[in-house]
Amino acid sequence: MPAQIIDGKSIADQVRAEVSDRARQLQERGITPGIALLLVGDDPSSLSYVRSKGDKAEKAGLFSEFIQMPEDTSESNVIARVQALNADDRFHGILVQLPLPKQVSEDRVIAAIDPDKDADGVTTTNLGRLMRGEPCPWPATPTGIVELLHRSGHLPAKKHVVVCGRSNIVGKPIANILMQKNDRANATVTICHTGTVDLSTFTKQADILITAIGSARTITSDMVKPGAVVIDVGNNWIEDSSRKSGRRLVGDVDYESVSQVASAITPVPGGVGPMTIAMLLSNTVWLAEHHTRSD
Ligand SMILES: NC(=O)c1ccc[n+]([C@@H]2O[C@H](COP(=O)([O-])OP(=O)(O)OC[C@H]3O[C@@H](n4cnc5c(N)ncnc54)[C@H](OP(=O)(O)O)[C@@H]3O)[C@@H](O)[C@H]2O)c1
Repeated sequence: MPAQIIDGKSIADQVRAEVSDRARQLQERGITPGIALLLVGDDPSSLSYVRSKGDKAEKAGLFSEFIQMPEDTSESNVIARVQALNADDRFHGILVQLPLPKQVSEDRVIAAIDPDKDADGVTTTNLGRLMRGEPCPWPATPTGIVELLHRSGHLPAKKHVVVCGRSNIVGKPIANILMQKNDRANATVTICHTGTVDLSTFTKQADILITAIGSARTITSDMVKPGAVVIDVGNNWIEDSSRKSGRRLVGDVDYESVSQVASAITPVPGGVGPMTIAMLLSNTVWLAEHHTRSD
């Protein structure tokens, strides 16, 4: 039987509707949650992604401001702008769109973000809080994965989750989130990477397989346990002469074959991708709620 499709678009719609309600409740108390979206350069895909974040923020009842700095901006100017945003009370969340131009260190810019305005949960402080199981904004993509699992009825507790990929924005945080001792997590987690010998030995043991490797259709049906739940984070462009653009987006998973053995699977596009923006907005509202509670 073909796998259940976990529909990220409709789950993201639900999350955004809830974000909108929470934003309205804050507005009734005179607080408009605000997010600053900082882009350095004019890369077309980053530009369109940031604009989409701003658009969806406004539609959910948040205030958003898009700040674009020229490609050749110095690192100190980018950091100075982040510090100005830290001090600007209109913003509860700050998002610096990555990647940054080569003269600007991502690590130093991220370190400049006030952890209490860290909308994407990328600062060292928030990743440390996440690891310790303390309340904080989590990176948006892993948070989206957690929501996809729960809202589609695939609870991770007591399951064996295998994560392929150990980046700071996906692999490490999702593994840390799902291993925590609480009702929404409590999984046994294995992490694989390029140092893993015989990847399929591990992927075949997964009740829930999460792939974030950035390698097109690498996970094939023989690598997946029948009945597994498969969450495909990968976004990979491949050539496709049948498309006007000459290319199309695929995941890390070979969807056609894996959807015949998995019990549930996220499509690419339309799975994890739409959740990332929704969770960024949710994080921003959480920061506004959290900040105003402690005032
Ligand atoms: N949908 C979304 O919203 C969203 C958000 C973020 C990322 N993504 C996509 O998710 C993918 C991963 O992104 P990322 O930023 O996490 O990637 P990344 O920083 O490039 O990290 C890739 C990870 O995968 C591991 N890896 C690569 N090839 C492998 C293989 N054949 N077998 C086992 N492990 C392998 C690497 O191992 P080493 O550590 O050993 O190098 C690394 O840990 C990309 O396609 C990206 O576009 C999507």
